[in-house]
Amino acid sequence: MTESLMPTLPGHYYTDPEIFALEQSRIFETMWFCVARAADLPTAGSFRSVDVGRESVLIVRGRDGGLRAFLNICRHRGARLCVEESGTVKRALQCPYHAWTYGLDGKLIAAPNLTSMPDVDRVEYGLVGVHLREWIGYVWVCLADRPPAFEDDVMGAVTERLGDLSAIDSYEIEDLEVGRRIRYDVRANWKLIVENFMECYHCATIHPELTEVLPEFAGGYAAQYYVGHGASFGPEIQGFTVDGGEGFAKLPGVTGDQDRRYYAVTIKPQVFVNLVPDHIILHRMYPVAADRTIVECDWLYSKEVVASGRDVSRSVELFHRVNVQDFDACERCQPAMSSRAYARGGVLVPSEHHIGAFHDWVLAKL
Ligand code: FES
Ligand code: FE
Repeated sequence: MTESLMPTLPGHYYTDPEIFALEQSRIFETMWFCVARAADLPTAGSFRSVDVGRESVLIVRGRDGGLRAFLNICRHRGARLCVEESGTVKRALQCPYHAWTYGLDGKLIAAPNLTSMPDVDRVEYGLVGVHLREWIGYVWVCLADRPPAFEDDVMGAVTERLGDLSAIDSYEIEDLEVGRRIRYDVRANWKLIVENFMECYHCATIHPELTEVLPEFAGGYAAQYYVGHGASFGPEIQGFTVDGGEGFAKLPGVTGDQDRRYYAVTIKPQVFVNLVPDHIILHRMYPVAADRTIVECDWLYSKEVVASGRDVSRSVELFHRVNVQDFDACERCQPAMSSRAYARGGVLVPSEHHIGAFHDWVLAKL
């Protein structure tokens, strides 16, 4: 191999169900995994069930206002407690099989004939808890018995990319509201989506609208290539919108340095954060199979913009197009991963060499 070209992972890393199973157990079931926007669970009794690795996890808002996460499995004979993706219960979660009933804090509170079984400990036979953290208005869970430090794994990714945490704090993401959410069903391995997000070699070819707004992207170097660097808007560009027209007022905490710039952060394994002065675009990936990934993308705006009912569609349209362009490219690669032409993988050009570090990270985890 020449100096300019570095090898990628071999093709079967993107297709082999056994490798995907290893990724589930060693990456998605051991790291912090972003499952929801906290505001998606607005009131006591609101719940969401989300697949994390091979487990179904139930996130519930308690009567004390706090969020808790549990394995979505009845302690009696193992029935799945909630089959709906989201909903609200009045005050308890009841298993549809034999009616064991759990409080919103997970404790067993009732079961047919429970009073005649006084030796049954209601905490011991409560739902199995899962670690949960809230940050920037999102809910992360971790299935590991002893989770890695959230400060290192999640916040650390932001520090590594932006230089320090205050650079994201200034956007006050926890106070923003979802102005639009789009769910993409992508027929591609999750790693192709991460690799694509990490490079900009493709920007000039597939992202005409984005390179119009961020002219330096046409050069092929991703904003995340340099610590602390955000790509500048072109001189004629008024806002981060599909035609470069005016967006909204910049978020109140955004600094002068951050104005008219775009920053992108990858929080491994499944979150991308995109920062622009007047909104945030946050992607969460849910890998469902070696060749399929659900991506949920939120466009977050100030409460005032959302409450005013102002039209966000030109602002949403820019990154929606970018998403479709990116996911089409990933879907174009996916079938080729099993070709003999890709059995030993492909190559990375110098502006993509940092993806090699992502490959090393995956290999180390497996
Ligand atoms: Fe849930 Fe029996 S399996 S009550
Ligand atoms: Fe792209």
